Amino acid sequence: MKPLIAPSVLAADFANLQRDIEMLNRSEADWIHFDVMDGQFVPNISMGLPVCEAVRKHTKKVLDVHLMIVQPERYVEAFRKAGADVISVHVEACPHLHRVVEQIKSLGGRAGVAVNPHTPVSLLEDIIADVDLVNVMSVNPGFGGQKFIENTYGKVARLKNLIVQKRSSALIEIDGGVNSTNAGSLIAAGADVLVAGNFVFSSADPEKTIARLKNQLVIREV
Ligand code: DX5
Ligand code: ZN
Repeated sequence: MKPLIAPSVLAADFANLQRDIEMLNRSEADWIHFDVMDGQFVPNISMGLPVCEAVRKHTKKVLDVHLMIVQPERYVEAFRKAGADVISVHVEACPHLHRVVEQIKSLGGRAGVAVNPHTPVSLLEDIIADVDLVNVMSVNPGFGGQKFIENTYGKVARLKNLIVQKRSSALIEIDGGVNSTNAGSLIAAGADVLVAGNFVFSSADPEKTIARLKNQLVIREV
């Protein structure tokens, strides 16, 4: 099975966003990953609702919104209205996670839960059957261009087991430091969706890089 590829807008050129979204539209990207940071849950601020709306106007691809914010329940509806198809909230930011997941689904969105590198898969036991996606953070959230954390492989395998055991239909998404060196092993471990920011946008030919990630050719630097 080919993975779904979700290039991360965080690594795009914000002064040429329309150009970059059009490039993604032409590419084999399946989803567009949109990182929202609040300077509180994570030590960085990125972009919010108006930019999400603007991106939505220029693409029909699945808009995959990753909320790295405290109290995400306050913004879920607004992001859904701004065009988000998938909305992921952090387990670590939600004392009432089940309620937020239900909120996303009641708005017609696909509900994702994101887990920081230190958060064990076992914490998902009683929510996995209710979610459409698990975003496994393979770096500490807050910045693009960080080094992939190797523990992720084992974590993905443990998560895959849990999904099978609980008969969940959740997809496994990997977020952070994904490149052509680790993509194959991640898919082998059970990953369904690969987010890639810098690896795509820093390459000489982003469209080709996306195609190669999608089709799993062994590449080095393009
Ligand atoms: C990190 C974000 C990621 C980021 C990935 O906090 O959640 O989605 O954009 O960027 P790369 O692929 O450059 O690590
Ligand atoms: Zn992300």
